[in-house]
Amino acid sequence: MSEHHINSYRVGQRFSQAVTTYDNHAVLQREVAERLITHVEFARLKPKQILDIGCGTGYFTGLLRDRFKRAHIVALDLAGTMTEVAKKQHTRSFPWQAKTQFTTADALALPFPDNGFDLVCSNLTMQWVTEPERMLAEMRRVLAPGGLMLLSTFGRRTLSELRQSLASINHEYAGLVLPFPDVTNLGNCLMELPVELPVTDTDLFTLTYPDAMALVRELKALGASASAISNRPGGLYGRGLLRQLDAAYNTAHQIEDGRVRATFEVLYAQAWYAEAPHTYDNVIPIQVEHGG
Ligand SMILES: C[S@@+](CC[C@H](N)C(=O)[O-])C[C@H]1O[C@@H](n2cnc3c(N)ncnc32)[C@H](O)[C@@H]1O
Repeated sequence: MSEHHINSYRVGQRFSQAVTTYDNHAVLQREVAERLITHVEFARLKPKQILDIGCGTGYFTGLLRDRFKRAHIVALDLAGTMTEVAKKQHTRSFPWQAKTQFTTADALALPFPDNGFDLVCSNLTMQWVTEPERMLAEMRRVLAPGGLMLLSTFGRRTLSELRQSLASINHEYAGLVLPFPDVTNLGNCLMELPVELPVTDTDLFTLTYPDAMALVRELKALGASASAISNRPGGLYGRGLLRQLDAAYNTAHQIEDGRVRATFEVLYAQAWYAEAPHTYDNVIPIQVEHGG
């Protein structure tokens, strides 16, 4: 996967600003969270220490808490206001449960020692990090032997209509949409880690909006702002460009009822840190005799 030109300071700022609007718009994020949690159900895991990276307002953390009542959960996010809100909402939903800790930290430099968590997860956060490979390596570093790492992120086909419409105005504007990875790239990155049974999986969602501006407003409300792309072309989302975008998108991607469509491809990935790595101690070496 290529390095994204993302300014993580701005990512944190945009998500912090979106904290009050995020939950009203995060329908897809919640649906993906529900699908991601089913992966742990299949895995029949009984984790004691869980890490949730990029917890946002804490929806996935809540699903983990429901599923693993006795576990100690650490939920973290780059945006301080997200962790504050997640903590408040979590305490309201699970007042008897003190075993969830919220902290502000970066997925690329997890402030934990090696091998401390037996379930390390992340729902729809990896698309925002500058170096996805480093995030995967960090997830593996903090994973305990026998543990499972599990994540979802957006894939290459996500917002393809927005990318095409922007490119039809000026080909440089296609760079305003994040360069989401291909599922094969994600699988290859997983296979470079010392993990076992890496599995990837995809889901394609088509959402509809009254018009292109409704999509742009929703992305903003979710904190998904192009201003976090540090090498983005200038002049973004001036009124002139927005008008052009609205016209280009509405013409090319309208469906029967006059609404427009937007594609979101979700990638899921999971891998195990095998408890007993293969050793060859009990294999009797075969002696080959070279006869004369
Ligand atoms: C789509 S939201 C996550 C939703 C959440 N996981 C859920 O299921 O409800 C993405 C989150 O990733 C966080 N984020 C982005 N870059 C991050 C990084 N480098 N480290 C930690 N969190 C990050 C953002 O602040 C934002 O809250």
